[in-house]
Amino acid sequence: MNTSDVIYLDHAATSWPKAPGVADVMLEILNRPSGSSGRGNHAMALQAGRTMFNTRAKLAKLFGISNPNDIAFTSNTTEALNLAIKGYVKLGDHVIATMVEHNSVRRPLEFLKRTIGISVDYLSISEQGYFNLDDLQRAFRPETRLVVCTHSSNLLGSILPIAEISKLAHEHGVVTLVDAAQTAGIYPIDVRAMGIDMLAFPGHKGLLGPQGTGGLYISPELDIEPLLHGGTGSQSEEPEQPMVRPDRYEAGTANTVGIAGLGSAVAYVLEQGVEQIYEHEWNLTQMMMGELNKIPIISLLGPELGQPRTGLVSFNVKERDAAEIAFTLDRKFGIAVRAGYHCTPLGHKTAGTSAGGAVRASVGHTTTKEEIEAFIAAVKFIVK
Ligand SMILES: Cc1ncc(COP(=O)(O)O)c(C=O)c1O
Repeated sequence: MNTSDVIYLDHAATSWPKAPGVADVMLEILNRPSGSSGRGNHAMALQAGRTMFNTRAKLAKLFGISNPNDIAFTSNTTEALNLAIKGYVKLGDHVIATMVEHNSVRRPLEFLKRTIGISVDYLSISEQGYFNLDDLQRAFRPETRLVVCTHSSNLLGSILPIAEISKLAHEHGVVTLVDAAQTAGIYPIDVRAMGIDMLAFPGHKGLLGPQGTGGLYISPELDIEPLLHGGTGSQSEEPEQPMVRPDRYEAGTANTVGIAGLGSAVAYVLEQGVEQIYEHEWNLTQMMMGELNKIPIISLLGPELGQPRTGLVSFNVKERDAAEIAFTLDRKFGIAVRAGYHCTPLGHKTAGTSAGGAVRASVGHTTTKEEIEAFIAAVKFIVK
């Protein structure tokens, strides 16, 4: 398929195109002599270690993290969330989450509920995706140890007040875990200013890096258990996983090629500026919403026009199947959107769309007004 054949409006799943230069950097690593980070002292292994550190340093700059070694690389957000949740939550703990969490938060929590015995409250969220801090205040119990919250709903696009949530959590001596799958590289994040103890992020969405990359920031004040145990190339004589970071959380040979690509992508995001990327995407969502709003049989999900939101717009067409709309957009018009439940059944319960899911169109750094116009024209054709 040629680039000119598609209008890609599924950036919330994974971004495309990636940042300029990402593919070149990855190809270069594959084509030149290269070793494995932490495995050996020869020049090629050391170079691989430097590549990994450079990406960590760029991510640290982007997220306001003091020590790049407090970031552990993972293969996606899901792995980062599993590392954080399974590494921190213990028997008898109470966890507070929300009704717009992705299955990558809900399923590890439900697994721990069933296997080790924890309790979880999913706080209600308004139909448009807003959070009530009073509900959070009331939810704390003596055994609460974690508040886990998505930064932005992948169905509604609403942005949750992380700084306020963290402040309340800390007043109760509770740690915060933020799922930044929909905001990393798209909406400003500063772990210090926002009081985030753990931040799970994808490399392959708004950071514009390759699939198979992601990470978890873990505050230096926390020691969580590793998810994987095995070779780190360090303290090999010890039977236990080393305490030193990032080795503690990165067992096995790293995805050096992907992480190099991610480093190049983050450099691009830093150069463009997250605020500028957000503004570009927000303007496009407003244009899309304005036009979709003119079609009486279309109902939009999430915040009203004019309100902050990440670059996605979910909608339904009266008495039409969301999957059929997405299928026709793809097959007839070459426009890629996503339909269905978006891995967030709780989010659909919140939005009142459990029956059939919704169509979600999500924009990215290269999406143009002309592409939005073509999308709107195609939707009008399909629904008329
Ligand atoms: C809010 C949210 N959390 C978690 C995930 C899982 O991300 P990944 O595919 O990087 O594991 C997604 C993916 O769409 C998401 O939107």
